[in-house]
Amino acid sequence: MDLRPATSADLPALYEVCLRTGDAGDDASEQFDDPDLLGSVYVGPYVTLDGTIALAALDDDGVGGYVLAAIDTADFADACEREWWPALRRRYPLPEHPTGRRDDELIAHIHHPPLMPAAVIERYPAHLHIDLLPRMQGGGNGRRMIEALVAELQRSGVSGVHLGVAAENARAIGFYEHLGFTTLHEDASGRLMGRRW
Ligand SMILES: CC(C)(COP(=O)(O)OP(=O)(O)OC[C@H]1O[C@@H](n2cnc3c(N)ncnc32)[C@H](O)[C@@H]1OP(=O)(O)O)[C@@H](O)C(=O)NCCC(=O)NCCS
Repeated sequence: MDLRPATSADLPALYEVCLRTGDAGDDASEQFDDPDLLGSVYVGPYVTLDGTIALAALDDDGVGGYVLAAIDTADFADACEREWWPALRRRYPLPEHPTGRRDDELIAHIHHPPLMPAAVIERYPAHLHIDLLPRMQGGGNGRRMIEALVAELQRSGVSGVHLGVAAENARAIGFYEHLGFTTLHEDASGRLMGRRW
């Protein structure tokens, strides 16, 4: 696996990875009418805005994964308010008649992005997303990507990172625990996990 900084030219491939892993680690493409919605929220701003780290994972078949982070979650939320959400709010107005598809959930997120509590940001300022297509999973790539990301975060001077994971994604929860993440909060929908150094 090759790991290199992601660029805007990678966005279509990265959005595809996001969709193909967006159902608690499984393919979410049947759940969405608009295939770009997930990537627009969980990939685009990390590749585009300042104050982020975006690494693309490649094998012989091309881009098959990514690890993304906002170095300071509060600054990132401000940058998204200024530079990312406005265009998406115009493109995806709140629907008058919700469809019941997952598109509704992502459009609600675009209009009312959830804010992380200050107590979490204080101890775990950065947050991350990691996804690999099935062909790149299970061979140590995820570990290498997390360690590369943590090394970059350390160089940036932050002392901790958090992430959210769906309750049904037992595989990812086991992976994060194995890599030293602990559960900060848990409810029926999922877990907030963090790691400090
Ligand atoms: C979750 C994911 C990033 C993990 O990456 P991966 O390449 O499959 O995992 P790795 O092979 O690097 O595993 C690293 C280590 O974790 C361990 N591990 C992996 N899954 C584990 C689990 N469920 N329980 C315990 N240990 C686990 C591995 O045995 C390995 O141990 P070692 O390095 O000590 O030998 C990857 O499977 C993935 O992208 N899945 C689909 C998308 C997804 O769920 N993303 C997370 C959304 S929150």
